[in-house]
Amino acid sequence: MNASNLYLVGLMGAGKTTVGRQLAKRLGRRFVDADHEIVARTGVSIPTIFEIEGESGFRRREAQVIAELAAETGLVVATGGGAVLDPANRIALSNSGLVVYLCVPPRLLHERTRHDHNRPLLKVADPLARLQELYDQRDPLYRAVADIVVESSGGSQHMVKLIEHEVRSRCAA
Ligand code: S3P
Repeated sequence: MNASNLYLVGLMGAGKTTVGRQLAKRLGRRFVDADHEIVARTGVSIPTIFEIEGESGFRRREAQVIAELAAETGLVVATGGGAVLDPANRIALSNSGLVVYLCVPPRLLHERTRHDHNRPLLKVADPLARLQELYDQRDPLYRAVADIVVESSGGSQHMVKLIEHEVRSRCAA
């Protein structure tokens, strides 16, 4: 198994953290959630960072964390849904590991995130429309950066198995 990192990208609610944690366990790698890393460093929640520093302040912190994680090896990293917006992040991900896009339809993302209060971008009158907009904007970016696309509305177990199989066959090649 090669030492480069494995990154999960995709929209909010795609299952990056759940899938990443399970995948790391199966592959015997360390799991890091980039958003949790930002929260641990600042000592405040993501909504609080957005409130005080705006989205741009959050994006600066996110880029810093991604650059640092990209300098490590052997990790499974769940990235924040907007990490791919910054071209420097996309380059950092591509150059330091395999990138997996968890592609999930907006309607399902909405169901999974509707009771969540930790995502400032979804605090709008019509979160489903917002998710559709984000999907339209970001799907091409996720695809551009991804080595593997998992198109699945199935559960996380299914995604984990698919990705594990893909990763193992690529690393053995
Ligand atoms: C964001 C996604 C969130 C978090 C922040 C912004 C986005 O992460 O980084 O709220 O721009 O899509 P998750 O994708 O883990 O929810």
